[in-house]
Amino acid sequence: MRRLVAEIDLRPRHLVLPMFVKEGASEPVPIASMPGVVQHTRDSLRKAATEAVSAGVGGLMLFGVPESRDATGTAGVDPDGVLNVALRDLRAEVGDATVLMADTCLDEFTDHGHCGVLDAEGRVDNDATLAVYGEMAVAQAEAGAHLLGPSGMMDGQVGAIREALDAAGHVDTGILAYTAKYSSAFFGPFREAVESQLRGDRKTYQQDSANVREALRELALDLEEGADMVMVKPALAYLDVLRAVAETADVPVAAYQVSGEYAMVEAAAANGWLDRDRTVLETLTGIRRAGADIVLTYWATEVATRLTTE
Ligand code: PBG
Repeated sequence: MRRLVAEIDLRPRHLVLPMFVKEGASEPVPIASMPGVVQHTRDSLRKAATEAVSAGVGGLMLFGVPESRDATGTAGVDPDGVLNVALRDLRAEVGDATVLMADTCLDEFTDHGHCGVLDAEGRVDNDATLAVYGEMAVAQAEAGAHLLGPSGMMDGQVGAIREALDAAGHVDTGILAYTAKYSSAFFGPFREAVESQLRGDRKTYQQDSANVREALRELALDLEEGADMVMVKPALAYLDVLRAVAETADVPVAAYQVSGEYAMVEAAAANGWLDRDRTVLETLTGIRRAGADIVLTYWATEVATRLTTE
């Protein structure tokens, strides 16, 4: 009877797996703060992507870890940069069997670790960054990404990327806008995962956790600029924001269960303090109930497998 009357469900197609690929790696490198998650080699990435697709996940979101970084994040734009190479690998490997997504952001590629380029005073230069995002977006579309995830929270990023894609003929490449991305301590383990060079914080461009109205303003702007889907991030501490966005948006809504949310459950489970499998499913169900059509989670393959075999 419980099954008969359940109000929402969680299916493999709702899940997106974020993945890391490390340039020059000969073995997958474990990420200490995210037990079970690795920085992939090109080969192990292909294998893990195939497993995720077999498990039925709805999408893959790819992040690159380059060997060298510079002030403007050149390696992110370079067609031979690690992320673009990996996108080409995966598109060849899985084709259109899942939605291939790319992180369209500079923080993995800059030597200062910020999501944009800096001005003479060392501040993030919003508009100069937009031009680089445009080039990066075209490179990622050319490498085979179906959907781009601009995560840098620059004002106007969705419009700039849409314009650059259209001008290059990539009219069918979609944009999953990181609409409400908060300046969050929950990104901690991700910084290890991408070997971030950041000192300081992103408070001048990511949102203040005190604000929900601001998220709705960001939503209106992203929709006006042409976002095909929108995202709230992190998930668990922002379920009210997710609910508000889901009630307002007329496009699909995603939520990103971030690295710190993953680490927190894994750490408690490793101590025997939480029932891991139940907790994982409960968090994902809660995120769906709050209004997410799509959930990005590092547990995607495992949960997708469990949902279809149990
Ligand atoms: C920025 C980006 C971040 C995450 C996804 N994209 C880090 C940040 O903004 O500091 C975090 C994801 C996670 O914590 O799992 N490119």
